[in-house]
Amino acid sequence: MHTIKPNSGITIAGIRQYGKTTFAKHLIRKFVAAGVHVVIYDPLRQYTEFNSHIPQYFGTASQMAEFDSIAGQIWQQHFDAYYNDNSTAQKPRTMLVVEECENFIGQGMAKSAGMVKIVNMGGNVGIGYTAITRRISNLDKTVFSLSDNVFIFRFFSNNDIKYCAEFLPSGYDALLPKLTVGEYLHYKGDGSVIRCAPIALR
Ligand SMILES: Nc1ncnc2c1ncn2[C@@H]1O[C@H](COP(=O)(O)OP(=O)(O)OP(=O)(O)O)[C@@H](O)[C@H]1O
Ligand SMILES: [Mg+2]
Repeated sequence: MHTIKPNSGITIAGIRQYGKTTFAKHLIRKFVAAGVHVVIYDPLRQYTEFNSHIPQYFGTASQMAEFDSIAGQIWQQHFDAYYNDNSTAQKPRTMLVVEECENFIGQGMAKSAGMVKIVNMGGNVGIGYTAITRRISNLDKTVFSLSDNVFIFRFFSNNDIKYCAEFLPSGYDALLPKLTVGEYLHYKGDGSVIRCAPIALR
């Protein structure tokens, strides 16, 4: 279907129950099959079938502290492997999948320092991100603008549509409230957009 590099940025957005997690799992299976290390941070606990990809939660810390510690560790491990390790060992590749991403790199609120580095520079050290959000208007705009691929499912609120319209070619924003379950707009970093039919469920 889509050729997506594992060290690239991906955003998946849309209101609840229109297909974000289903689509994310489809991408995760492809990354796992390609030998990419996938780490999933999922406050909603929607990924039980990928348990081995879910870090142990500390339970006590705040969600932000917990997430930032995970993102920071991935960043540091890759930074060391790419810049401080001269051995010929194969460099790690990680895809960090984050549900409710607007809570960790939102607009006008405290941001995870680890996630900020991954979004801005992760591609240079083999880290990709998949930012998933129901409230795209709360997501820091660098996440969308630095994503190589954005998959937008249904939205109908003015705030969310206005936010998307800043990035989409004119006219596409009007399609957002019309998308049915599983249907999405695929926006690529080169500015092109394709309206896509729902992926086939396994
Ligand atoms: N490609 C698809 N084809 C057919 N049905 C789909 C497809 N994608 C999603 N659905 C249906 O929509 C429901 C919701 O999908 P999903 O859980 O992926 O949504 P979501 O956007 O992650 O929702 P939430 O924000 O509540 O987590 C699924 O249970 C499934 O029935
Ligand atoms: Mg979901």
